[in-house]
Amino acid sequence: MSILIKNIGGLVNCRTEYHLLRGKELSSLPTLSNAYLIINDGIIEEYGEMSSFQKKEIDFKHVHDASGKFILPTWCDSHTHIVNAGTRENEFIDKINGLTYTDIAEKGGGILNSANKLQNASEDQLFLDAWNRIEELKKLGTGAIEIKSGYGLTVESELKMLRVIKKLKEKSSISIKSTFLGAHAFPSAYKENHEAYISLIINEMLPVIAKDKLADYIDVFCEQGFFSPNEMELICQEGMKYGLKPKLHINQLSSIGGIQTAINLNALSVDHLETMTETDINDLSNSNTIGTLLPTAAFFLRMPYQPARKLIEAGCAISLASDFNPGSSPSGNMNFVITLSCIQMKMLPEEAINAATINASYAMDLQDSLGSITVGKKANFIFTKPIRSISLLPYSFGSNLIDQVMINGEFIN
Ligand code: NIG
Ligand code: FE
Repeated sequence: MSILIKNIGGLVNCRTEYHLLRGKELSSLPTLSNAYLIINDGIIEEYGEMSSFQKKEIDFKHVHDASGKFILPTWCDSHTHIVNAGTRENEFIDKINGLTYTDIAEKGGGILNSANKLQNASEDQLFLDAWNRIEELKKLGTGAIEIKSGYGLTVESELKMLRVIKKLKEKSSISIKSTFLGAHAFPSAYKENHEAYISLIINEMLPVIAKDKLADYIDVFCEQGFFSPNEMELICQEGMKYGLKPKLHINQLSSIGGIQTAINLNALSVDHLETMTETDINDLSNSNTIGTLLPTAAFFLRMPYQPARKLIEAGCAISLASDFNPGSSPSGNMNFVITLSCIQMKMLPEEAINAATINASYAMDLQDSLGSITVGKKANFIFTKPIRSISLLPYSFGSNLIDQVMINGEFIN
């Protein structure tokens, strides 16, 4: 049953013990040179330096030689909207012609555009499209993914999205977490009657979600023109009664007190953070909440990037995710997320890799099975092509330096 991988150029993010990394800790990426790795039944059984390898090769079912290659844990993508009914390239053109994200939302585009499409899509089609996106992302090194609802915005369609996510969870080889984002936008009919839509979320959606175990987390888009901090608090408190932890869209376009409300709710993570005040940064650094940065959303919307350096200097625990969605980040390529983090947010390659592996595993409660090379965790790995340094991953943007990906001890390509 066991697999031996020998002569590994660099075995990246080896941790006997692990914890959520904060501030300066992010820059240390423990790596073993000239290493071996033993996998049994899809789980890491042993690893170490080749010089201390004591077993006989003949006793292994498979032996792979990884000379010159780096092996690292697969990416954990803790924030996506990959269940959706298709692309919005018209808005892409509108943005090139000068409209802002808010202009587009105000004329019925944006989230409401995706909701219209999704309401008319069949459950089978939504499943198939999301399945194909996940299969493509696996080849790019993603080994766990969080998926949100939020393009349904009616009782029927939000539940439809969550059933699709549940089916993906059951059938996919990678770990999937499900987040209920009924509070993504107010449907047109409720624009002037927020209370009525919030009551639909609380009284019609949440009880069914809880009964059918359709979600792990609850999310709210806290933003001007969307949900206020008070509305977010009310919705989260109701979700928390059913055991859903808050994992929230905060400070994308403006700072309106969402950080403080989220921290008081003990949110697992606050995601986006393009627009952070000094107080927001300070408050986040004194909390247990993870700050998840989504640089491809800033890139695609031509927004200022998240202040990664300030967050790290303040001692925050940060992670990175793709935000894969048709409006603000039509890519789930975590390699590009890493590249942007280094180039535009001035994160060191070590910081970015830690933020997208070990810290990202915490941002989706998967730290005990993924995120580092640790005995007992899943054998989900990225094998690079032979390269001299792990820094070449973010450096060589646009080139695919991934040679192979292993999920649960099996090569997928
Ligand atoms: O995370 N900002 C809110 N939600 C998504 C975008 C949704 C959309 O434009 O469809 C985001 O960026
Ligand atoms: Fe998002």
